[in-house]
Amino acid sequence: MAQTKLQATGLRMEYYQPRTGGRLLALDNVNLSVEDGEFVSIVGPSGCGKTTFINLCDGLLKPTAGNLVIDGKQVTGPGTDRGMVFQDACLMPWRTVLKNVTFGLECQSLNNTEGVERARKFIQLVGLTGFEEHYPHELSGGMQQRCNLARALTVDPEILIMDEPFAALDAQTREIMQLELLRIWREAQKTVLFITHQINEAIYLADRVIVFGARPGRVKETIKIDIPRPRDLAVKRAKQFLQYEDHLWTLIEEEVKKTMIQDQVVHNINR
Ligand SMILES: Nc1ncnc2c1ncn2[C@@H]1O[C@H](COP(=O)(O)OP(=O)(O)OP(=O)(O)O)[C@@H](O)[C@H]1O
Ligand SMILES: [Mg+2]
Repeated sequence: MAQTKLQATGLRMEYYQPRTGGRLLALDNVNLSVEDGEFVSIVGPSGCGKTTFINLCDGLLKPTAGNLVIDGKQVTGPGTDRGMVFQDACLMPWRTVLKNVTFGLECQSLNNTEGVERARKFIQLVGLTGFEEHYPHELSGGMQQRCNLARALTVDPEILIMDEPFAALDAQTREIMQLELLRIWREAQKTVLFITHQINEAIYLADRVIVFGARPGRVKETIKIDIPRPRDLAVKRAKQFLQYEDHLWTLIEEEVKKTMIQDQVVHNINR
C-alpha cells in the first residue's frame, strides 16, 4: 500500500493585518493527503491561499490551527526534506551553474566529491551538461529554471514543492519544461506538489488535481487523472483530456466569480 508523504488536517491560516488591525482568513479547514511518489497539482483562483499553503508546507509560516505532517513528523520549520521551486529562478548571479547547484550542499557542509558528483548528475538530468561553468546571465529563462530545479533536487529532498515554476516562461518553453519535468520526476522518483494557474498544465502533469475554493481556501474537489503514462504533449488534444479540462474550468469559474464578488465587498468596506 502506498505511504502517505504529506498530510494536512484541519489546516487554518489567519494573517494579521497591521493596517486595519483585523485578521484575514486565508485558509480554513484544509484537509488533503499526498502519497509517496505522487504528483499532485493544486489549482484555484488568485488569492485563494495556494502560496500560503506552500509556505506552511515549507515551514516558513506556522498554521493558526490544524496539523501538517510530512513523513510522519509535524512540520515545525524549514528543512532539507523539502525542495522549493518558485516562479523566479533566484539564481546567484555571481556563481556559475555548478556553484548555484551545489549551494544547498555547501550549506549542509556536504560539498565533497560525492556531493559535486550528485550536482553534476542532476545538471545532466535537467539537460544542462556543458553549461556548468556558465553564469546565470548567459542562460535563457528556461535554462535558469532548469538550473533551479537541479539545485532543489541535489539536496535530495523527499518532496519537491513548486509554486508556479513555469509562469514566467514563453508558451513553447513551458510545454517543453512540462515534458522534461515528467521525465525528471520519473527518474528522480520524488513526490511533487505543483501549483499552477494553467489548467491544462495541472492535468498534463498530475496524478491528481486538487481544486482550492475561493478565500478562505479549502479543498473544493479532487480529480484523479486517469491518463496513462508516459504522457506525450499530444495527449493534451485527446478527448479524455479535454473532458478533464472542461470539468476543471467549470469548477474554477465558479470560484473566480466568488472571488470577484469578495474583492468588490472588501474594496467597498475599505473605501
Ligand atoms: N504575508 C501576508 N500578510 C497578510 N496577508 C497575506 C499575506 N500573504 C498573503 N496574504 C493574503 O492571503 C490571501 C491568500 O494569498 P496567497 O498568496 O496564498 O494566494 P494565492 O492563491 O497564492 O494567489 P495567486 O494565485 O495570486 O498567487 C490573499 O488574500 C492575500 O492577500
Ligand atoms: Mg500564489
